[in-house]
Amino acid sequence: MNVLIFGGSGWVGHSIAQKLYEEKIPCTIVSRGQKTTYLNEIPHIPSIRADKNNEEDMKNIFASATYTHVIDSVPTPACISLVRKYAKNLQHYIHCSSTGGYAPLPFIPCNETAPYKGFAYGNAWDFKRDLDNCVMDLFRKEGFPATVIRPCYITGPGLLPLDNLGGRRKDFITDIIAENVLDLPGDGSTLLQPIHVKDLANSFFLALMYPLACKGEIYNITLSHALPLNEYLRLTASVFGKQPEIHYMTIEDILAKYGSKVNEIGLKFLACHMCFTTEKARRDLEYMPKYTPEDAIIETALWAEKFIRG
Ligand SMILES: NC(=O)c1ccc[n+]([C@@H]2O[C@H](COP(=O)([O-])OP(=O)(O)OC[C@H]3O[C@@H](n4cnc5c(N)ncnc54)[C@H](OP(=O)(O)O)[C@@H]3O)[C@@H](O)[C@H]2O)c1
Repeated sequence: MNVLIFGGSGWVGHSIAQKLYEEKIPCTIVSRGQKTTYLNEIPHIPSIRADKNNEEDMKNIFASATYTHVIDSVPTPACISLVRKYAKNLQHYIHCSSTGGYAPLPFIPCNETAPYKGFAYGNAWDFKRDLDNCVMDLFRKEGFPATVIRPCYITGPGLLPLDNLGGRRKDFITDIIAENVLDLPGDGSTLLQPIHVKDLANSFFLALMYPLACKGEIYNITLSHALPLNEYLRLTASVFGKQPEIHYMTIEDILAKYGSKVNEIGLKFLACHMCFTTEKARRDLEYMPKYTPEDAIIETALWAEKFIRG
């Protein structure tokens, strides 16, 4: 097995690279060299500077060594098409999608049989749906060996936590610590289900380990259970010995109050339940998360507080 990880310098990609390194699986990361945030965590992993959407670059990559497995943390149509064209020894292709496209959930806990419409037309989840359909169609028509991993809200050290308005603003933790009022859409009962970035990385490793079960399949990857948003805020604040002061509002009132300072799609998305079962991944991949949602939320809050202090 020789794995190529497109996006391997990013948050998810470098976590996958680190996991494969720990498991002694040869891997090489590919990126354009623009994102360097996590590179100091994986200096021991070989890297290629290239654009995965560029035909000449992809031709050269696959001519330079025998890569048998491809992982893409942020897939694109061009990259899929170039992998098909030049990865002559490809045994398995795995890409990262998102559970976001199931929203609004038709049933709870939701599973992979639910329609994946894309949440709001013309946005990132729409793009994800098309990419997932593309590789699943290719699997059915020509045996393209694809697996799709759909994580929910990704958390863990390395990226700021989800805030009360559906973004990842830097002053969220500052507001929590100062016990500032936190405006929240809905009544606090909306469900949020995290996945720790390390458990997510492990799911990619497991997909590599169980190729017969998972080619042509899509998996939702989350931690064990969902928490209501008010509990998420309470837990985050408790890390600093604080109580959150939550102000429940309608989406319309929040939009009127914050205007362009808030991302409307992110806010509306936050007001949708996120609650999934990972039964399929447990069955096919023996997926068993190491973190509890509570541990993941607490670890991320502690990391974020250190991060914003600099
Ligand atoms: N955040 C969440 O809660 C969440 C939830 C569900 C799903 N997801 C999914 O999880 C993934 C998130 O990835 P991430 O956070 O790891 O992203 P990221 O940190 O922004 O990393 C993106 C990586 O892709 C590389 N890249 C971008 N364009 C490239 C190109 N043309 N050629 C080669 N490399 C390229 C970047 O490096 P260069 O720029 O240097 O090339 C970088 O290594 C996404 O697919 C997202 O949809 C996220």
